[in-house]
Amino acid sequence: MCGIFAYLNYNVKRDRRFILDILFNGLRRLEYRGYDSAGISIDYSSLDSKGHLSFSAPPLVFRQEGNIDSLVKSVYKDVASKKLNLEEPFLNEFLVVHNGVITNYEVLKETLMRHGFNFESDTDTEVIPKLAKYVFDKATEEGDDQSVTFSQVVLEVMRHLEGAYALIFKSHHYPNELIACKRGSPLLLGVKELSEDMLGGASFLDINFISENGHPKELFLCSDASAIVEHTKKVLVIEDGEVVHLKDGGVSILKFENDKGNCGNALSRPSSVQRALSFLEMEVEQINKGKYEHYMQKEIHEQSESLTTTMRGRLKHGGSTKAKTVLLGGLKDHIRTIRRSRRILFIGCGTSYNAALAARPIIEELSGVPVTMEIASDLVDRQGPIYREDTAVFVSQSGETADTLLALEYALENGALCVGITNTVGSAIARNTHCGIHINAGCEIGVASTKAYTSQIAVMAMLALAIGDDAISSQARREAIIDGLFDLPNKVREVLKLDQEMKDLAKLLISEQSLLVFGRGYNFATALEGALKVKEVSLMHSEGMLAGEMKHGPLALVDENLPIIVIATRDACFSKQQSVIQQLHARKGRLIVVCSKGDAAAVCPGGFSTCRVIEVPQVEDCLQPVVNIIPLQLLAYHLTVLRGYNVDQPRNLAKSVTTQ
Ligand code: F6R
Repeated sequence: MCGIFAYLNYNVKRDRRFILDILFNGLRRLEYRGYDSAGISIDYSSLDSKGHLSFSAPPLVFRQEGNIDSLVKSVYKDVASKKLNLEEPFLNEFLVVHNGVITNYEVLKETLMRHGFNFESDTDTEVIPKLAKYVFDKATEEGDDQSVTFSQVVLEVMRHLEGAYALIFKSHHYPNELIACKRGSPLLLGVKELSEDMLGGASFLDINFISENGHPKELFLCSDASAIVEHTKKVLVIEDGEVVHLKDGGVSILKFENDKGNCGNALSRPSSVQRALSFLEMEVEQINKGKYEHYMQKEIHEQSESLTTTMRGRLKHGGSTKAKTVLLGGLKDHIRTIRRSRRILFIGCGTSYNAALAARPIIEELSGVPVTMEIASDLVDRQGPIYREDTAVFVSQSGETADTLLALEYALENGALCVGITNTVGSAIARNTHCGIHINAGCEIGVASTKAYTSQIAVMAMLALAIGDDAISSQARREAIIDGLFDLPNKVREVLKLDQEMKDLAKLLISEQSLLVFGRGYNFATALEGALKVKEVSLMHSEGMLAGEMKHGPLALVDENLPIIVIATRDACFSKQQSVIQQLHARKGRLIVVCSKGDAAAVCPGGFSTCRVIEVPQVEDCLQPVVNIIPLQLLAYHLTVLRGYNVDQPRNLAKSVTTQ
């Protein structure tokens, strides 16, 4: 799993079945983040059946390879056969759930082994409970158990850990207590059944805040909001270096004053902090499939609505005298600096990188500022030059991608203005950039990004408009783009009607080994993104290529068997794409052409027997990638279903890549 979830209740009577269901449901909600294996642990040691403290009950621990369904089956099988105590010796004293990666675990493991610890697995996670035990034993050598608090143990553990992690600790030494902490990986605390008057206007969460009135209460910890939105909307986004201590219904937060790098700095001292609860802007319906069979299908079909939400309140019609404009609140204090930058760098991974690539031409055109594209990992690998005069734009659906976060850290160190474009409020990228724009596409659960991609392009088109807003010479062009943005949801609705046509095409391609996609200009990104969608979910090899590069190698692949999709919608590159189609046709290429409505004859040189045409509505050239990707998303979806693969959980992939 790439997600963790915890549930605690105080003064609430819940049976074991109820608690199991809450845990399974929480994990199911997080399953889209990664689904190789999963586990749960339940600790009843704090309360006995009458609600009194009891220190004797051992925790239950279950772990299982595979998805959550496999875990559920194995737990109920064990429950039925009364094999309840599966906890392993090494986990006995401290139980830890972990999301992330501990990069120095080998060194820690060697040290712990020298101190007599035995290890049962090769995982980095195993060093954490052992380290906690080591710290605890050392601290209590001379005193009794109570001389060291649970937070002191965890703070000491954190000092030694390097890497990215979100952790939840439980220990029978500290019944009725739980600790959560994080560095690099996301973690939220959800608070249920706090009455408004308790929260007051300020909604501050402070030491023993909850315990004072003795109301029943439930607390949740999880990697993202989708796992708690059905329980509560009151959340605390835990920050790096913070240690959240839940004890007897009270919550206290400690933070290292020095939040740079790992916590191994002897000078850093934790201090108590007060944090405000925030309110989740998310509805449960967003995380359900509704009438659709798969999340990917739902998310493809809701793009007209997600684009509307992305643009809501940001486009101004103007009036008879006023110009049409764009308002991006998150950038208002920085737009002049961006306009004056020496260079704009777009940084992202996978689909987010492709979205930035689709927007690059319009940013260059309207801003006049040179734009460079950087794949986050490559920028970090090369330690490519970044200057104080640069604006670095970080594009990420999740806002938590490890490679993008590392690149952000690097750009901040080099003094660039850092702008975040993310779909996740409170994510690390949203928090750590100087300013930014939320995509507002709604929660995306399908591992293959679809609606976030189109909303990212719309956001970056608005960014181009905002940067170029002071140039009178491009006013007519900007107004045409704004009109195009207003009309985009309608055009998306129209292109979604190709669903059946794309399913028919998928039936034809179902047994192919390979697929090429050629695009150029605005639609080079469409070629890359279309090919990425097909390969990641349908597991068919597919490559997106720049059509201008065709003669420099890829042409050798062309024959009557290999299917080739060419994007040839109307824009400045149209005639060049016509020529590409002719050359492919001359080599008997098996062509599928995506063209503007009414252009079928213009793009099909040999007639319709040699070439299959997909006609899409024409929009303003820089917005065309939003429309053009949709038939390819539909193709990828149908190919996957027809080939019998899991659309929402593609093999070996995770939604949020929080490790390098
Ligand atoms: C592909 C896909 C990935 C992500 C990439 C970056 O469908 O979703 O390529 O785009 O892992 O993720 P974010 O955008 O969350 O930074």
